[in-house]
Amino acid sequence: MKLCIDHADTQQIRRIWEQYPVDGVSTNPSILAKSGRAPYDVLGEIREIIGPQGELFVQALSRDAEGVLAEARRILKETGDTTLIKVPAVPEGFRAMKMLRAEGIRFIGTAVYTPMQGFLAAKCGAEYVAPYVNRIDNLGYDGVQVSKDIHDAITRSGLDSGLLAASFRNTQQVLELVKYGVKAVTVAPDVIDAFVRNAEVERAVGQFTDDFEGLCGAGKTMLDC
Ligand code: E4P
Repeated sequence: MKLCIDHADTQQIRRIWEQYPVDGVSTNPSILAKSGRAPYDVLGEIREIIGPQGELFVQALSRDAEGVLAEARRILKETGDTTLIKVPAVPEGFRAMKMLRAEGIRFIGTAVYTPMQGFLAAKCGAEYVAPYVNRIDNLGYDGVQVSKDIHDAITRSGLDSGLLAASFRNTQQVLELVKYGVKAVTVAPDVIDAFVRNAEVERAVGQFTDDFEGLCGAGKTMLDC
């Protein structure tokens, strides 16, 4: 299962990238807007951090399929040809997906709120489909269950696609889908940090230090005794 960072703050991305086993970075237009920087400057810096093999997801804005294709070509030129183009799973988006597939451009169906949107995107050749877990929860449906349904529909149809589940607000939502074996999740830095934030663990590690310093002296480690 892949773990991506859903963010465009390059300081945060660098920190998380160095600290955890992360596979890539996903952005959307709102995430780029929050950075307040020129989009290709931020994306170039992200590509530098994650290298050519890191997964980078960039969304096209055009509402017509020809426009999406033109944007996709520009995005690949600016950020490298392994970048995945995020295409909203709306009627014209599916036409765009078929055009991207014909050109051999990697893409992902995004803004997925229903199982059939996800299924259609996978059938168009999307490498990933992105259900928005927390946003679905906020509509009064079960975002984790919708994601599982999409995963099942894709898997049982034998389609060569999988989830990049997105829009998480807490670690439990992520855990449910990790346990289910989805292809990938993309998670904001604060929720990734929360995976391992635990005062009791900190206390236990602190106790090891105190005990060892009691034996060998302040600041001592296994290098000094
Ligand atoms: C990623 O593909 C989505 O654009 C993103 O996770 C949406 O997250 P939000 O619901 O926190 O805006």
